Amino acid sequence: MGIDFAGVQFKNRVTLASGTCGFGRELAELFDLSLLGGICAKGLTLNPRIGNPPPRIAETPLGMLNSVGLQNPGVDAFIREELPFLRQFDTNIIANFSGSSPEEFAEIAAKLAGAGIDMLEVNISCPNVKAEGMLFGTSPDAAAEVTAAVKRVAGSVPVMVKLTPNVTDIVQIALACKDAGADALSLINTLLGMRFDLKSGKPILANGTGGLSGPAIFPVALRMVYQVANSVNIPILGLGGISSANDAREMLIAGAKLIGVGTAMFRDPLIAVKIIEELGKNEH
Ligand SMILES: Cc1cc2nc3c(=O)[nH]c(=O)nc-3n(C[C@H](O)[C@H](O)[C@H](O)COP(=O)(O)O)c2cc1C
Repeated sequence: MGIDFAGVQFKNRVTLASGTCGFGRELAELFDLSLLGGICAKGLTLNPRIGNPPPRIAETPLGMLNSVGLQNPGVDAFIREELPFLRQFDTNIIANFSGSSPEEFAEIAAKLAGAGIDMLEVNISCPNVKAEGMLFGTSPDAAAEVTAAVKRVAGSVPVMVKLTPNVTDIVQIALACKDAGADALSLINTLLGMRFDLKSGKPILANGTGGLSGPAIFPVALRMVYQVANSVNIPILGLGGISSANDAREMLIAGAKLIGVGTAMFRDPLIAVKIIEELGKNEH
């Protein structure tokens, strides 16, 4: 039985989180990607990016910090080289992307919509060059402006906006995105954190700060999904720290319609498939 999510049919409720499954090539050697409800591909930008200098990963209790810095081959190379590979599988392909201005978001979205992607995931956890680097996702106005710019060019492709948890009131941002035309929301992205090396006294990550993910953020994700689901009537893809079928069930109770598995895939690359199997047992 399929699940309708913003007009797209999903064979089950489980997707892979952006940035934790690349473009699926490595995982395709381990399991059939057609088993998945969907794949949120690695975050794209207009031009290729080499990302931040190493170290870009730091361990934390019950999670990890990353400051990969949106390393990616650029939207054109994705459409040319990665999308045909992903299209071999019978699963929804969700393109995650970010820009430095609403115009740049729209330019990337137009390319992806033209390439026949199943859904757009707008990553607004990135700096707005026109607002001194403030993240789009921390201002309701900026979040709305980006959402509207993407909607104008997306045609029939549903637009899902991915929210950052690094805000005081996530409901306010969610409402602004919905009012600007978002078809769905995904939350949460990573929580800003840092760690220091005791010997040098310097941050472990070359970038200084990074995004915290994994089981440590699960209760925060549940709380935010619950708050947004109770205030905004568009479907939610809930993610953040999900590592088991019971976590997925809890996220669905909080109000998500789909779930995303991210950091847990680094520990067990088959965990998403195991969660699908477990959840499937319940539905009959
Ligand atoms: C190494 C790494 C890279 C990520 N890259 C992206 C990205 O490109 N775009 C994005 O929207 N989120 C990105 N994320 C955030 C995840 O998609 C997800 O929202 C977050 O990690 C919380 O889920 P988790 O705890 O299950 O990993 C990344 C996370 C990690 C750990």
